[in-house]
Amino acid sequence: MDPLERYEQYKAMVDLWLAGRLVPEGDGADGLREAMAYTLKAGGKRVRPVLCLEFARICGLEPEDAVPVACAVELLHTYTLIHDDLPCMDDDDERRGQPSNHVKFGEGTAMLAGDCLQAEAFAAVCDAPVDETDRYRCCQLLAAAAGVRGVCGGQFMDLAGGEMTAESLTAADVRKTAALMAAACAMGAAAAGADNDTVAAARDYGAALGMAFQIRDDMLDGDGFAALLGPEKCQAMAEGYTQDAFRLLNVFEDTEFLQEMTEKLCGRKA
Ligand code: IPE
Ligand code: IPE
Ligand code: MG
Ligand code: MG
Repeated sequence: MDPLERYEQYKAMVDLWLAGRLVPEGDGADGLREAMAYTLKAGGKRVRPVLCLEFARICGLEPEDAVPVACAVELLHTYTLIHDDLPCMDDDDERRGQPSNHVKFGEGTAMLAGDCLQAEAFAAVCDAPVDETDRYRCCQLLAAAAGVRGVCGGQFMDLAGGEMTAESLTAADVRKTAALMAAACAMGAAAAGADNDTVAAARDYGAALGMAFQIRDDMLDGDGFAALLGPEKCQAMAEGYTQDAFRLLNVFEDTEFLQEMTEKLCGRKA
């Protein structure tokens, strides 16, 4: 299948599943569901769930059966974006060209929408039609990527400020961005029942891809690594991580789609 076609097919599977997750219930909490749905449905690229579905496929699972696990990663990612934009964090009024969640719904609701999305993420893993052991492994991977060694730890390092060095930025980005990308890949492999070495290889690939992705993001936004090192050094760093990612794919077979994604994400211009 053509890579673009496959990407669109995965994205449609994810969008459909997510749409069914947040239907109004008329129970007095629909305003919160609306805030959750607002950022969940608003134009994300779905990079992480697509990676998750493809790793599931190349490790032998029908992608359809990995959809809840893939959506779990997107639910968690969406929560991190809502909280990242809050006034107490990056204080961003816009996300994907739209008013950010707290601008639209207020800070309290935005905070709760993020909290609920995180809870929903773990509930989604529990709903996956895969072996119980594999669901358990997926939960462990997601929890590790979300917690102090993952997104929250990385966001804390970002907030802490202090002297910015390539080392301190790398330490923050490994946690705040690479960890979740790594978990997305590893969870796809784990959902398919892959052995621990294979899951670790998927994780390492995702981590390298995640670093290249974040450096590219900084180059597009002119902050982080771009502000510290300038475009040429950033480019060299991003290329180094991209090479690592390609090398790590060698463990797997049928990687045409992943090679294409690596190329696209590491060189993206928007
Ligand atoms: C944005 O991630 C946050 C970073 C880690 C740089 P994405 O660029 O994947 O966000 P969306 O979901 O596609 O908007
Ligand atoms: C995004 O990080 C949020 C997380 C990775 C949790 P940034 O603050 O660097 O990225 P944008 O520019 O807001 O998406
Ligand atoms: Mg931030
Ligand atoms: Mg931000």
